[in-house]
Amino acid sequence: MKLALGSDHAGLSLKKEIMRHLEEKGIEFKDFGTYTADSCDYPDYAYAVAKEVSNKNYDFGILVCGTGIGISIAANKVKGIRAAACSDTFSAHACREHNDANIIAVGERVVGVGLALDIVDTFLKSSFQGDRHQRRIDKITDIENKETI
Ligand code: RB5
Repeated sequence: MKLALGSDHAGLSLKKEIMRHLEEKGIEFKDFGTYTADSCDYPDYAYAVAKEVSNKNYDFGILVCGTGIGISIAANKVKGIRAAACSDTFSAHACREHNDANIIAVGERVVGVGLALDIVDTFLKSSFQGDRHQRRIDKITDIENKETI
């Protein structure tokens, strides 16, 4: 499994904790920035990671900003991306099982490190359940195609 990671300045510290955790688990990843604590704009990193995931260069993405919200909203503008902002482990497995989420977003200002790592682990070990959920994903894709010029 290969992961694409990204954050803004407000998510940098939690992203580093997640990278340490992934290294310990031997999970391959690439960090698409930001790399410093200087103030920056989360859509830039959301787009970098979302493009990599949508192009299938990486299996999943992990994004971190202050809330997980802005960076997930931005990532969801990229075709084929289903990014879920999660602050609990139920949502972390439900977004894989029901929504086939391919990016998880967490907020450094919302969750502690321990919970964030549990959220990431839960997301990565969960699988899409297909069946009636696939029909709903197909409808999301239909909306995406209708809205794309
Ligand atoms: C940055 O201050 C903050 O707005 C950003 O990290 C994020 O929380 C936006 O949704």
